[in-house]
Amino acid sequence: MNTVAVVPGSFDPVTLGHLDVIGRAAKIFDEVHVVVVHNPGKEAMFPIAQRVALLEQAVSAAKFPGKLEITSWSVGLLVDYCTEVGASVLVKGIRSQVDVSYEQPMSIVNRNLASVETVFLLPDPANSHVSSSLVRQVAGLGGDVSPYVPPSVANYLAATELP
Ligand code: PNS
Repeated sequence: MNTVAVVPGSFDPVTLGHLDVIGRAAKIFDEVHVVVVHNPGKEAMFPIAQRVALLEQAVSAAKFPGKLEITSWSVGLLVDYCTEVGASVLVKGIRSQVDVSYEQPMSIVNRNLASVETVFLLPDPANSHVSSSLVRQVAGLGGDVSPYVPPSVANYLAATELP
């Protein structure tokens, strides 16, 4: 059986924590789609196309095994994308109990909507404090974010005037 998994997220921008989860998913599933999704509950800093471009650079440099696709989805439900590509699994990283509380209702709703199961992976504890929001805040105030993001993102943030 060819199991297709989707790793969704805002990726605003992609962090080392995200890459950790993507790499683990790539080892487990036959095909992994990393999907930049518009989160209606968050105001994004970077346009979706830019987030996809940064993900593509980071994933290409990481040389993960297997079949990996990077794309975006901004119309309709995330499970509609899963149905379109034949994905039966969503993959999410869990850093703490806060993530469990945030993910639990989405997991149940996605299962009810389209029988898509969510698999939770525990990233390396070295990344448990890393989040895109922290990266945006530190970068926006002129701090060094290179310990938290891939080099391509650190270079992009250093060269970009942030709002
Ligand atoms: O990186 P994030 O912001 O925590 O990712 C959350 C995301 C984008 C995966 C989540 O908001 C989502 O799944 N949005 C798609 C909209 C949707 O399908 N909602 C209904 C089921 S939860």
